[in-house]
Amino acid sequence: MINKAKDWVFSDPRLKQMTQDYAAYTEEDFKVWKILFDRQIVNLPKAASKAYLDGIKEIGFASDKIANFEDVNSRLAESTGWAIQVVPGLIDDDLFFGLMNNKRFCSSTWLRKMEQLDYLQEPDMFHDAFAHMPMLTNQPYVDFLENLSGLALKHIDNKWAIEILSRIYWFTIEFGLIREQGEVKIYGAGILSSAGETKYSLSDEPSHFDYDVRKIMNTPYWKDKFQDKYFIIESYEQLYESLPEIASVLEEMVEAEAN
Ligand SMILES: [Fe+2]
Repeated sequence: MINKAKDWVFSDPRLKQMTQDYAAYTEEDFKVWKILFDRQIVNLPKAASKAYLDGIKEIGFASDKIANFEDVNSRLAESTGWAIQVVPGLIDDDLFFGLMNNKRFCSSTWLRKMEQLDYLQEPDMFHDAFAHMPMLTNQPYVDFLENLSGLALKHIDNKWAIEILSRIYWFTIEFGLIREQGEVKIYGAGILSSAGETKYSLSDEPSHFDYDVRKIMNTPYWKDKFQDKYFIIESYEQLYESLPEIASVLEEMVEAEAN
């Protein structure tokens, strides 16, 4: 068979069978979750997208209880059919996209320590859970994610193609803004888990552009400071509907690079 089955990822030896050991969370972990949760939740009614605010209710997160992935999975099973896959931290691109192409969102289970409240090298479960999981209840959003990942898998051996598609992921899933009834709101998880960037991203300091596939695919990003550009979608359907354009601009850019 030339085409790999879509579910190849589940039998890949690099994918460790891991689960969340809820009983292992310490008192400090619960405190850290509560501090981060309480500090950010007050900013969100004004700043976050309706999809996120509906999602956090639907998924049942609370300040005094570290997210429990079993609960999350049973709630997601009823809404979009997605589930959480526990991973040790950052994983290879093909596994990451392979899991999302099978409706599995990757999450770590460790929490930052008290002295790391504001700065982290690598996303912890506060970011993965608090910021990402509520959005997984939104159907057009997850359909976009699943199909964007399918596109990435088709080009997985081409570093340039993956870089270009990572820009789309970055400026939507991690740092995306949406216009809702004339007001700009946040749906990007990288912003939602940062009190500082929540304020900054909606201020006049950075540039704001309408969602523009070609422009995003030509815009490099950075990981160690706030972005200087944000892109605003009009709806989550717009993301899903932009997939054919993403695919065609990708072909064009990959071909141009090869020549
Ligand atoms: Fe993230």
